[in-house]
Amino acid sequence: MTLVLNVDGVRHAVTSADDTPLLWVLRGELDKNGPKYGCGAAQCGACTVLLDDAPVRSCVLPVSAATGAAIRTLDGLADADGALHAVQSAFVAEQAAQCGYCTSGMIMSAVALLAETPRPTDAQVRTALDGNLCRCGAHNRIVRAVLRAAEART
Ligand code: FES
Ligand code: FES
Repeated sequence: MTLVLNVDGVRHAVTSADDTPLLWVLRGELDKNGPKYGCGAAQCGACTVLLDDAPVRSCVLPVSAATGAAIRTLDGLADADGALHAVQSAFVAEQAAQCGYCTSGMIMSAVALLAETPRPTDAQVRTALDGNLCRCGAHNRIVRAVLRAAEART
């Protein structure tokens, strides 16, 4: 059966089975390679995308549960002219990545946080990113980047 997904503002017809994880469809069918496969068990956050502005673990979400929602991935975060989103720019400025595997999920979780809480405290950032793991230990730089993005947007 064909499902229709709205990803980064574009509608796509996809042919994966209803219970296929959304991450598989994004990467395998739609070539959205921002979200990463880490644990496959909703434990690391590498696969985080936004579903109607809320962060979700796309590795465990059946694609059928994402139809009708606005799905946002890292791939669609920059402007059409290539200008980076404020959170992306702040990650660059703070050098908030080492291997970069967690970065997409961290950024999407941060975008969701700042939409809800435009001027978060350090503690609020840490809480919001608590479920996103960074095996490189870049957490402190990541938190600084999110705080920098919040400042830049006000
Ligand atoms: S790959 Fe989805 S939470 Fe780890
Ligand atoms: S920068 Fe390597 S996992 Fe976070």
